Amino acid sequence: MSASTDSQRMEKIVSLCKRRGFIFQSSEVYGGLNGAWDYGPLGVELKRNLKNYWWRVMVHERDDVVGMDGAILTHPEVLKASGHVEGFSDPMIDCRTCKAHLRADQLVEKKGVKQCPNCGGKDFTEARQFNLMFETHVGAAADESSVAYLRPETAQSIFVQFKNILEVSRKKLPFGIAQIGKAFRNEINPRNFTFRSREFEQMELEYFCRPEQGMELLEYWKEERLKFYDNIGISRTNLHVLTVPDAERAFYSKGTYDIEYDFPFGRQELEGVAYRTDYDLSQHQKASGKSLEYFDEETKERIIPHVVEPSAGVDRTVLAMICEAYAEDQAPNDKGQMESRIVLRLHPRMAPIKCAIFPLLKNKEPLVAKAKEIVALLRPDMTVFYDEGGAIGRRYRRQDEIGTPFGVTVDFETLGERDPALRDTVTLRDRDSMKQERVAIQDLPAILRERIR
Ligand code: GAP
Repeated sequence: MSASTDSQRMEKIVSLCKRRGFIFQSSEVYGGLNGAWDYGPLGVELKRNLKNYWWRVMVHERDDVVGMDGAILTHPEVLKASGHVEGFSDPMIDCRTCKAHLRADQLVEKKGVKQCPNCGGKDFTEARQFNLMFETHVGAAADESSVAYLRPETAQSIFVQFKNILEVSRKKLPFGIAQIGKAFRNEINPRNFTFRSREFEQMELEYFCRPEQGMELLEYWKEERLKFYDNIGISRTNLHVLTVPDAERAFYSKGTYDIEYDFPFGRQELEGVAYRTDYDLSQHQKASGKSLEYFDEETKERIIPHVVEPSAGVDRTVLAMICEAYAEDQAPNDKGQMESRIVLRLHPRMAPIKCAIFPLLKNKEPLVAKAKEIVALLRPDMTVFYDEGGAIGRRYRRQDEIGTPFGVTVDFETLGERDPALRDTVTLRDRDSMKQERVAIQDLPAILRERIR
């Protein structure tokens, strides 16, 4: 993790997220539930755009990947076999001075002495292992026999359904199974806004292959995932690939990359790309007693496939997109004077609202009617927002702040009052360059579809 942080920038981002309805603290009116977040009207659109695009490139645009949607409630035997019941824990200590519960690796070291990051205290309890899984009970009996867990990753349901999906999809190695869904971890210290939450979403692909293909596919998926971030507007200069050192990798992994992003609070993991060998399928085969082997028709061999797993966090990627997009610059107001503006330079394919439509004046019925016609024209293809309130510059500013990439203004030229050649044309404004072009209304759907794809 890099030491450079920008807490002021982060505060502005958190404030914008709340002010404009991207992300709220969960249960806020009751004081908030730590580690849980609710996405507002714009946040939910941004999140959906991300998940839909991931699904499009990872499943729909490929012949070798199918999807699934598994249950969150998980049988304890699944998580015993995967090693989560025994080993999915963080070492935890308490500060005896301020009573804070801390992960052991959060202590700060000053002059060789470990200190509490909250109060500077130096008196701690012994480290104890704290399992991060949320346990619950299924059915009426609340005893050992009814224990189930909220899944700590989506991956395990993919491994457990491997055989069923292989049979119904009739795929040949190498092929993948993809899933997007909620995961839950009782993190000791949720922090950095949504970055470390207790309830979050993952986008995971388990890509099954022959053992000899594993290392090559690890490289392949790392590169594919880096391309993905480029395609959602996260610049390569802010991404870093960390080769996880042997000592820090899971014992069964033959190679792991962390794709990290330069958040305002430091360089942190966005996604892991791991070669997990045949560990998971072997464990489930052993524990369930059911064969999870793959029969190769050509070689007449039975093997347990190996797996390469790109595993990304939805919430972390949403946060990275917002951090990447947040900018402050200068824009002219209605009198042509420059003033400061906040702009979210979200990639158009990710932006919650694609196009805002403004009649120049709200009390001019023909302008309003034309603007509403354009809303109806564009709505089948994209999210649009109609706004007739306030000076046009202020309306642009409101859309800039939420990342709307295009603005259409219906003016007197549109009505053909000054120049009949301009009848049924509008100005199309670009959020980033603030340049305006005059386009025919009938061309708008095709022009915009191309730019937001
Ligand atoms: N199946 C592999 C797996 O779950 P992980 O590195 O523990 O690996 C994968 O998690 C991704 O899930 C992370 O890179 C991160 O984006 C996201 N993630 C993990 N824990 C998270 C948390 N507490 N809050 C938000 N996102 C989290």
